[in-house]
Amino acid sequence: MNILVTGGAGFIGSHVVRLLVNKYPDNLIVNLDLLTYAGNLKNLADIEGKPNYRFVKADIADADAVGRIVREFEIDGIIHLAAESHVDRSIKDPLTFARTNVLGTLNLLQAARSWWESRPEGYESKLFYHISTDEVYGALEMTDPDGVEAPFSTRASSGKAHMAFGREFFTEETRYDPHSPYSASKASSDHFVRSYHDTYGMPVIITNCSNNYGPYQFPEKLIPLFVNNIRHGKPLPVYGRGENVRDWLYVEDHARAIDLIFHRGKPGSTYNIGGFNEWKNIDLVRALVRVTDRLLGNPEGHSDGLITFVTDRPGHDCRYAIDSRKLQRELGWEPSLQFEEGLEKTVRWYLDNGEWLDSVTSGDYLKYYDEMYSGR
Ligand code: NAD
Ligand code: DAU
Repeated sequence: MNILVTGGAGFIGSHVVRLLVNKYPDNLIVNLDLLTYAGNLKNLADIEGKPNYRFVKADIADADAVGRIVREFEIDGIIHLAAESHVDRSIKDPLTFARTNVLGTLNLLQAARSWWESRPEGYESKLFYHISTDEVYGALEMTDPDGVEAPFSTRASSGKAHMAFGREFFTEETRYDPHSPYSASKASSDHFVRSYHDTYGMPVIITNCSNNYGPYQFPEKLIPLFVNNIRHGKPLPVYGRGENVRDWLYVEDHARAIDLIFHRGKPGSTYNIGGFNEWKNIDLVRALVRVTDRLLGNPEGHSDGLITFVTDRPGHDCRYAIDSRKLQRELGWEPSLQFEEGLEKTVRWYLDNGEWLDSVTSGDYLKYYDEMYSGR
């Protein structure tokens, strides 16, 4: 099988590419990525020379390039992660989000449709797998995650912040209600993907996942930004009062789910992926500060004073909580890590990889790869 992964040089994409390249030596894994500020080939240095791996620098908003790549590599399956992914950037620059997330997805759908419909076997054994987000569902009512029973025992439950069973949470049937330009662009792309299934009979799958955390996340997102700021003794800007709730999942658990769903999911379906692991931002930040200080050898409370409450994000969604029981029931997936364990592992990775943090915050890696991959 020849599999095209888009956005494979980004945070989640790099974990997906690594997993597929190592697990399926007989499959060709083609990583299509524009290497925007968020894409970094250093994330994949360990698999760069593998015979079943190719990197192609291209823009998904460029229809001709996408069409050429899908045909050239005789692609059978697409795992589409390439996107503009940061909510705050979408508030400043919504058009880029429409271009990449909506037009880019549509270009990929067209390229796949044109190639697959030209094959004698048509859509048989083909799959367009679109990676989406829980943010398309909008915001849930605000409730305190502390002390609420989990719907079923899960190894990911921290014992502190459980899934709010019996209260509102997102299921695959939840109506779309996006609030930010980012989530609106993702919702739009989801609708286009579904329309290709309903109109042309293309086998598609969409998954909607909660907040990921782990190594290689660009330090504009909450966890790596705050670890990096603690390293440098800089303020930790908590939006509003820090009351917003997010459901956190370790990135390798997401990558495992993507592999499972790509190979065993039912075409035409949607699956929610989440950690049953809700945290109020301020509680998470305090936990993060504690772990980071401990690993840095600082006395307890050393960086507490860096926590700074700042103006809230406009349209800030109150609470996300994913019900991923369909995925557990149908395909047997469960998160594997306790949150405390995952958080410590993550903080340790950023502290051990200070050079990576410094290079992506200085922009040096962009210059390096511009030279290395120009013309490819
Ligand atoms: P990221 O920002 O870290 O990576 C995005 C990647 O896409 C980068 O490598 C970038 O270079 C590439 N890219 C951007 N524009 C492109 C273009 N025009 N053409 C080709 N490549 C382009 O994002 P991420 O956090 O890894 O998210 C990956 C996907 O997962 C996105 O679709 C996002 O919506 C979705 N998602 C993310 C989370 C999360 O918590 N991070 C949760 C659920 C879903
Ligand atoms: O839910 C899935 C989504 O999770 C993905 O679709 C997005 O691509 C991903 O970026 C993430 O979106 P969030 O907006 O939830 O993630 P972020 O890390 O930006 O923020 C997490 C929470 O922390 C959110 O409530 C805003 C808050 N925050 C964030 C930053 C960057 C702060 O309080 N201060 C900050 O500086």
